[in-house]
Amino acid sequence: MLPDTYLHNMKDLLKEEFDDYLASFDDEPVKSLRVNTSKISVSDFLKSFPYELEKVPWTEDGFCYKDNEVNKHPYYYAGLYYIQEASAMLPGEMLPVDEGDIVLDACAAPGGKSLKILNKLNGTGLLVSNDISASRCNALLRNIERQGYVNYLVIVTDMKNLAVRYPGYFDKIILDAPCSGEGMFRKDPSLIEAWVRRGNEYYVPVQKELITAAVKLLKEGGMLLYSTCTFSPEEDEEIVRYALNAFADLKLLPIKMHEGFTKGKDGIGVKLFPHKVKGEGHFTCLLQKGEKRPQEHIKRKADLPDIGFLKHLKKDFYNGEFMTINDKLYFVPDFDHAGIRTLRSGLLLGEITRYLFKPSQALAMSLRPDEFDQSINLDNGQALRYLKGETIRTGTDLEGYVLVCIDGYPLGFGKAAGSSIKNLIDRGWIIR
Ligand SMILES: C[S@@+](CC[C@H](N)C(=O)[O-])C[C@H]1O[C@@H](n2cnc3c(N)ncnc32)[C@H](O)[C@@H]1O
Repeated sequence: MLPDTYLHNMKDLLKEEFDDYLASFDDEPVKSLRVNTSKISVSDFLKSFPYELEKVPWTEDGFCYKDNEVNKHPYYYAGLYYIQEASAMLPGEMLPVDEGDIVLDACAAPGGKSLKILNKLNGTGLLVSNDISASRCNALLRNIERQGYVNYLVIVTDMKNLAVRYPGYFDKIILDAPCSGEGMFRKDPSLIEAWVRRGNEYYVPVQKELITAAVKLLKEGGMLLYSTCTFSPEEDEEIVRYALNAFADLKLLPIKMHEGFTKGKDGIGVKLFPHKVKGEGHFTCLLQKGEKRPQEHIKRKADLPDIGFLKHLKKDFYNGEFMTINDKLYFVPDFDHAGIRTLRSGLLLGEITRYLFKPSQALAMSLRPDEFDQSINLDNGQALRYLKGETIRTGTDLEGYVLVCIDGYPLGFGKAAGSSIKNLIDRGWIIR
């Protein structure tokens, strides 16, 4: 049941729309997914994905669905899409990201917005994905690895610490702040109880500190996307107003309006309400610090180490270096993160044991079939068996390492001997 104070606040905020808002609790939350455009174009996805989809109006790559089986399709495990709440797709959509940008996702876990930024970077630049919670960062890393990116680091720290270490460093920042979660009450009623324990007054000082740190972390001309999944003006427009008052060189940028969007108080940002859009509640606001300056992006190719297995690769790596840490080989993007707790300092390529190189699942997911010298396509049934860890029998005779794919999208590695493929999927990635 919604608390009286909350109902009172919402009545105040929504006025004559209040009854429509209450009625929206009778509707089912909308289920939606976002296509990983770094792996597949939206049109190709729509041609081959077997479930009925309806476009999310504010983003080209987002779709609503009804069928509960959607997240069990092999394409999900091939990283072709991510299940993301439709309104939560807006911040990543609204932050302009240019190729070569250095981007910080400051409160990133479980990572829906990080994935969109990585799509926009298109294999260039760098995403530093951070969250204070190590356990939530594990889910974040799994999501990034499944979708097959190379140009990222996952760090685990209080983002306020970053402002001391990297002032003026980032071209773009997304601050999807911890909040009282009012916009998610329909989807996750347990948040109502949490709201009673920790309401707006708990989050406001936290958000003020976080937005202050974010502005400090921005380069001159850099952009900040502030978002929450709550409605209270104290956590939304007033936090932005606080930052605008604190930093004279900070300004608001316009956000493209779509049907059902509501302008925030005093024209600050945009609010999404579940009675006006097909999605849950969200607030999004775009800011810029000073004026944009022209920048030059350098592209420096890294040399692959002399390891037998890597001769199978036909892939170039840029702006980073290969490093062996505790018998594991990584491609580490250029970013000085010494002294910062790091969950993953770039792409894990594999483990170097005494006699052989054990390629990682993350490496398989980051490849296109033409980037590995041998690949095989499985049908749907075989793909599901492969994902369950089974040995695969095919009609083709192959020898040695093979990139196992569905419709040209990798699921993992195998080792072929004649028509049988030994399953090399990482045990932690096996599905039940
Ligand atoms: C709204 S959630 C982020 C959702 C995420 N952006 C996404 O799209 O999947 C807020 C996150 O902020 C993290 N957080 C809270 N305080 C933080 C801090 N001081 N520094 C970094 N992360 C923080 C929480 O652990 C939580 O994962």
